[in-house]
Amino acid sequence: MTSPLTPRFPYAAGGDGARRLVYGADYNPEQWSREVWEEDVRLMREAGVNIVSLGIFSWALLQPTRDTWDFGWLDEVMDLLHRGGIGVDLATATASPPPWLTTAHPEILPVTAAGETVWPGARQHWRPTSPVFRTHALRLVRALATRYAAHPALVAWHVNNELGCHNVYDYSDDAARAFRTWLRHRYATLSDLNHAWGTAFWSQRYSDWDQILPPRQAASHPNPTQQLDFKRFSSDALKEHVRAEREVLRELTPGVPVTTNFMVMGSTKGMNYPDWAGEIDFVSNDHYVQPGPQDRDELSFSANLTSGIAGHRPWFLMEHSTGAVNWQPVNLPKQPGELARDSLLHVAHGADAVCFFQWRQSAAGAEKYHSAMVPHAGADSDLFRSVVELGRTLEALAPVAGAEREPARVAILFDWESWWTSEHDSHPTSRLDYRQEALDWYTALHRLGVRADIVPAHRTGLAAYDVVIAPVLHVVGQTLAKELTQYAEGGGHLVTTYFSGVVDENDHVWLGGYPGALSELLGIRIEEFGPLLDGVTVDLDNATTGSLWTDRITVSGRDVDVLARYRTGTYAARPAVTRRTTGRGSAAYVSTRLGAAGLTELLPELLAPSGVTSELPEGARGSVELVVRRDAVSRYLFLVNRSEEPVPLPAVTGDVLIGPATASGETLVLPPREVVVLRQPASSS
Ligand code: GAL
Repeated sequence: MTSPLTPRFPYAAGGDGARRLVYGADYNPEQWSREVWEEDVRLMREAGVNIVSLGIFSWALLQPTRDTWDFGWLDEVMDLLHRGGIGVDLATATASPPPWLTTAHPEILPVTAAGETVWPGARQHWRPTSPVFRTHALRLVRALATRYAAHPALVAWHVNNELGCHNVYDYSDDAARAFRTWLRHRYATLSDLNHAWGTAFWSQRYSDWDQILPPRQAASHPNPTQQLDFKRFSSDALKEHVRAEREVLRELTPGVPVTTNFMVMGSTKGMNYPDWAGEIDFVSNDHYVQPGPQDRDELSFSANLTSGIAGHRPWFLMEHSTGAVNWQPVNLPKQPGELARDSLLHVAHGADAVCFFQWRQSAAGAEKYHSAMVPHAGADSDLFRSVVELGRTLEALAPVAGAEREPARVAILFDWESWWTSEHDSHPTSRLDYRQEALDWYTALHRLGVRADIVPAHRTGLAAYDVVIAPVLHVVGQTLAKELTQYAEGGGHLVTTYFSGVVDENDHVWLGGYPGALSELLGIRIEEFGPLLDGVTVDLDNATTGSLWTDRITVSGRDVDVLARYRTGTYAARPAVTRRTTGRGSAAYVSTRLGAAGLTELLPELLAPSGVTSELPEGARGSVELVVRRDAVSRYLFLVNRSEEPVPLPAVTGDVLIGPATASGETLVLPPREVVVLRQPASSS
């Protein structure tokens, strides 16, 4: 007996009803001849592939003109895959409108903030709010769902593809109209809108709804609340598209789960995914490694956040890469072992599917230098052998399928609206990087060997965490301020940073001193921000160094300890890090950017009152990442060696599901870039 599976996850891929991890890729057979299709299915079977995402960019082939359809080739591919025991995550194919449509209806093309048309020639050249596009897209969805409703290969629906990747912000007249409708819904009266947008400033007062526009390119900084609302609206407009396609699919194929692939990674911030998650039957994500000093911390962070968005239930890794991509300035291949290690890090964080872009590397088109499961070199290649080996590894991990991610004791709050607003123009600094600050805290926790969950803000259940870290929690309304206060008074330990609590949901500053909504809870008052110029740093008296930001802090409450003071800079001798004891918990404030190194120094002191310490042996901290999944009977410990050195793991026990075998009594040594998964009885936590 295991814990209940996510009810509508496509475990059925494979056709025999067995529960296993799902393995596969985007499959684009339309780029190849029929003989290749036969070989594809043979190689997929060899690799253990049990699902493919099909038809993502097939609109122009499926509907060659407005009134002609050609499903013959897709019928053949679906049948062939089914005979091979491979399930299909069938795309609705609406991601890239065909030339006949954009020629007949150029009014579906997006428009930039400067008023330029985004022309066809690549993909995703459609306005999220275009009624004409919507009509044509839904016609296609209906045709596909009608045709394949009863096809035995169909295990899931894939709505569009990476919605918003290229078209999240559209400033067209369609967008203007839809924005006004959205605003009427939000504000009801113009006077409420004028108040929320602070239109007394710069003579922006509106006397008619029709005067309102998206924040198109203007003479100077556009109104900040207009910008924030446009971000909210643009995310909602795409969410609305998901709903529209999903409704057609649910009507025609009620038993087939529906997903759309998110892009929780790097700087992709336009789509407020925690707000979308309730619209689909299971969460999917695409992730690509962006090389840099924190690249695998970032992979782990994104996978962890995806798990948070999925409520810790299993999710679907829809795309990642077997090797190089084609869209970075320099596209690096993966090192031996990284293909499996990166995949398993996603599984550790709750992915029950490991899929790649794409199955067979294209010979033509913009992505011909993007890696795939079958490279240009063919199946006789190290890469394909690694793909086959990963298939075997995932088979051995079948018992993990359906297990949830075990919550950690530390949470990092991640808030889309704070991300959007803290990085707006016309601020104390244009250098603030919201996600980087959150990532630095995560890296520091990893270096200390402390597990953490990345949790979307505004989710309930904070009380379950001993420590909640809320970096740059810029937007704090009254409700959130109250929740955080109750959390700390009830025994939790809150840690927050510079530029937190400063504005409300309308992006209006809380008056009376920063950090506004959190001032009382933290027992501090800030009269002035002291951002730092590039290259300028300040020393703290705890031997750490700050950059980017400082605050002029006065301790205003009782029971506040100053944990560190500035030693240099404008605010020398003033508090830099504070902690107030309140009720049964505490609330700490870090007023500068310490970076991963400084936070690694500071964190043990911040964690001390909670009693949270590392679960890893000392020599493994910072090299090995520990993530735990669990079901009713077992805990699965994923130990992922993210370093280039072998790491001994004394006193780590359990049955080895995958990884180096160790004779009993011997210390397990984890080779570089390898992963071991151990099974323990659930009672052993
Ligand atoms: C994703 C996309 C795929 C492919 C891939 C390349 O953005 O969904 O179609 O373009 O990136 O990395």
